[in-house]
Amino acid sequence: MPENEKKKVILSGIQPSGAFTLGNYVGAIKNWAKLQDDYDCLYMIADMHAITVRQDPAKLRQNTMEAYAAIVACGVDPENSVAFIQSHVPTHAQLNWLLACSTQFGELSRMTQFKDKSAKHPDDINAGLFTYPVLMAADILAYNADLVPVGVDQKQHLELTRNVAQRFNQRYGELFTLPDGYIPPKGAKIMSLADPTKKMSKSDENQNGCIYILDDKDTIIRKFKRAVTDSETVVRYAEGKDGINNLMTIYSVVTGKNYDEIEREFDGKGYGDFKTAVGEAVSDHLKPVKDNFDRIISDKKYLQECYTRGDEAAFKISRKIVSKAYHKAGFVDRT
Ligand code: TRP
Repeated sequence: MPENEKKKVILSGIQPSGAFTLGNYVGAIKNWAKLQDDYDCLYMIADMHAITVRQDPAKLRQNTMEAYAAIVACGVDPENSVAFIQSHVPTHAQLNWLLACSTQFGELSRMTQFKDKSAKHPDDINAGLFTYPVLMAADILAYNADLVPVGVDQKQHLELTRNVAQRFNQRYGELFTLPDGYIPPKGAKIMSLADPTKKMSKSDENQNGCIYILDDKDTIIRKFKRAVTDSETVVRYAEGKDGINNLMTIYSVVTGKNYDEIEREFDGKGYGDFKTAVGEAVSDHLKPVKDNFDRIISDKKYLQECYTRGDEAAFKISRKIVSKAYHKAGFVDRT
């Protein structure tokens, strides 16, 4: 890219909901690190989104620190990207209000995640859960992000962000960039090892189905050995072989080998050998992440320096855009 050409802005966020899974890693955080050279990247820990479901405060604080340490351990460089904590940057809440007044009750009612989550927590259908996508729109629009890496479950929220941005621009004059989704090229979706028709998730009842990026080697290998496959014996990628397909995807992501190469490598070998190989490859791949994490989480001063730098940089960028939005909406300028 020529030096004087402005890089596109990427923003993404992840909720601090406890240990990250292999699915979070492959689907999101691993790609965050890769994008840093080609884009101006902003990455945040979405602690404000986390409290739309009930949280234990001490646990949330710890999860937020750990989530921040984890993204750095996975290669997000706090000197190269803006890596920050959402609640530390007041512009998100400020823009949230403005955007809420340009968002319709009807469109929020149609969000499938709201419907799912309120069905799951019928005793706590709070207003924050309902307006969650507005805050997400504020996260994105406060930086005029061009691209937003998201999983499929967030595509509807991104679509809403575009609609709200467009409405605001029409009502008050051009300000916000309409963001596009950035869907990573491959291996975006990792399935449960216990039920390969379902997405790998920490809320999976069967914990053998879910690999955490901080699991130790023995645990990782044990979980892969128990992975559900099929009654065939040949390692090949094919429709209906969800378990094997998932293992091949995972192996491909951590080794860089393609499916043909993997099929050849395991020609004449059984599922048992393949599962062990995948387990070992995953644990080798995650070893440096785990080592980095252990180092970073025990160095509170370093962690604090990193997120403070990120918070300040994020505030500096978003303050300008949010001030313009306030002005356009008719608020008296602060002097
Ligand atoms: N809602 C996202 C999730 O749960 C996290 C998130 C919050 C986010 N704000 C964002 C993602 C802005 C992308 C952009 O996965």
